[in-house]
Amino acid sequence: MATSTAPLIEAAGLSISFNGSAALTHVDFDVTAGEVHALVGENGAGKSSLMKILGGLYAPDAGSIRVQGESVRLANVNDAARAGVAIIHQELNLVDTLSAVDNIFLGKELRTRMGFPDRRAMHAAAKQVLAQLGFKEGCAHRIGRDFARRRETTRRDR
Ligand SMILES: Nc1ncnc2c1ncn2[C@@H]1O[C@H](COP(=O)(O)OP(=O)(O)OP(=O)(O)O)[C@@H](O)[C@H]1O
Ligand SMILES: [Mg+2]
Repeated sequence: MATSTAPLIEAAGLSISFNGSAALTHVDFDVTAGEVHALVGENGAGKSSLMKILGGLYAPDAGSIRVQGESVRLANVNDAARAGVAIIHQELNLVDTLSAVDNIFLGKELRTRMGFPDRRAMHAAAKQVLAQLGFKEGCAHRIGRDFARRRETTRRDR
């Protein structure tokens, strides 16, 4: 039964193995509203595996997950997104051949009432976010060109 005091996310007894080697064994992890957690451990400790289970990317071999007190099965990223779980992955995954705005909205495009991609709305939202982050390039440029140039500049500045 869901209650307002239940943790936002409550993982209990999560276990997962890869090729017979245990990455997580009976892990419990709770997050309450307003809390910020830092998950610390050596390389290969299982931090990403735990996050990927909560993000719907890995199916645990055992254990359960509750979101706001309700038992959930996070079979994929969309299930996790619907439950309010979003992950910013450790590895930078951008599609070089798409623009910044298309990368930002990849898989979660804003749509018009008719169901068509709402390019104007996505462009406006992306522009706002990129301005907040201090990006000066236009968000319609392909990532490939701009990102390569930015990487070069960063290397030179080191
Ligand atoms: N998809 C996979 N296939 C096979 N083994 C995996 C997979 N994902 C994780 N593992 C293994 O599970 C263990 C935990 O890995 P995980 O990436 O969760 O650790 P981590 O704590 O995030 O490490 P790091 O600090 O290096 O990011 C490691 O032994 C890793 O090799
Ligand atoms: Mg990791």
